[in-house]
Amino acid sequence: MSNIFNFSAGPSSLPASVMERARHEFRDYGGLGVSVMEISHRSHEFIEIAERAEADLRELLDLNDDYYVLFLHGGASMQFAMVPLNLAGISDTADYVDTGSWSTKAIIEAKRLTRVNIAATSRDHDYDRVPGFRDWRLSKSARYVHLTSNETIGGVQFHEFPDTGDVPLVADMSSDFLSRPVDARRFGLIYAGAQKNVGPAGLCIVVIRKDLCGKDREHTPSLLSYGVLAQHKSMFNTPPTYNWYLASLVLDWLKREGGLQAMEIRNRRKAEKLYAAIDRSDLYHSPVQRSHRSIMNVPFTLSESELEDRFLEVAKTRGLLNLKGHRSVGGMRASLYNAIDEAAVDALIEHMESFEKTTR
Ligand SMILES: Cc1ncc(COP(=O)(O)O)c(C=O)c1O
Repeated sequence: MSNIFNFSAGPSSLPASVMERARHEFRDYGGLGVSVMEISHRSHEFIEIAERAEADLRELLDLNDDYYVLFLHGGASMQFAMVPLNLAGISDTADYVDTGSWSTKAIIEAKRLTRVNIAATSRDHDYDRVPGFRDWRLSKSARYVHLTSNETIGGVQFHEFPDTGDVPLVADMSSDFLSRPVDARRFGLIYAGAQKNVGPAGLCIVVIRKDLCGKDREHTPSLLSYGVLAQHKSMFNTPPTYNWYLASLVLDWLKREGGLQAMEIRNRRKAEKLYAAIDRSDLYHSPVQRSHRSIMNVPFTLSESELEDRFLEVAKTRGLLNLKGHRSVGGMRASLYNAIDEAAVDALIEHMESFEKTTR
């Protein structure tokens, strides 16, 4: 096990100590003689887990009381629909910034529910960048501006965020949530599927400014209403309790590891090492402009694409798993989420360099 390095884009590696603790508590949580997944979400033991998770997240993000934190079902994709359903009417306009596959999916869903203005897109550049803020064409009456802070497939990341004035900024932070400090007060709403940096798939965390809650359309189903969910503390129905518990362990781990500043330093160091190895080689190539490269997902191609299968085969024999790029873009992708140690990156670079030598 110790020689396995898992670069999966999601669901992805969780911290080893969290997995050990979950294993230890699996059949007997806190001396109850049963598992967390076998107790009521209304039990005081589970409420304590839920409250601790929220308090830890608030501390990590330095969140003030103007925001609700929600722990929801449905993954990040559910938010593609919930955001317009709650923040805009059918004939209102919402601004979207298109930086790749995930923003495109959010746009397709939003178009079913409201008018979408594509304020900026990097499609003509094969999604190799974040469009410059000065070129964004924001609508005068947009209900919100939506962006994807990190494109998990394309490896393009926002390293700063625009000022949208009074128009709430909404961010899909699924693949870089809790990987670096973010000033949450600049956002009306942040959502993140848990399966990269927080826990198992299926759980989605939403941080929403309180004044944006309770404005959903008349026919919005209760389970899709931020107002209803906030009022019931994310327990309008049975929440994904075991995922929530695992997220609570990860949040506790994050605090012990020094919080988001420490994560950012670590994540930058890992990514910089890998990009440096790519940039000094003749075989590997990064498709993303330098200033927009992601510190979480590092896609790269081989100049001789017929070598890709061999690269992956040899990688596997060295315990380097899940390096194949997304099926829509091909190539390779190394995801360097919080739980990935620098040793994994060192092992990957060693493999890349020795593989390159054997092909020359
Ligand atoms: C940036 C981004 N947004 C949304 C999603 C969709 O998440 P889910 O599958 O949890 O709905 C993903 C999944 O990988 C993602 O990377």
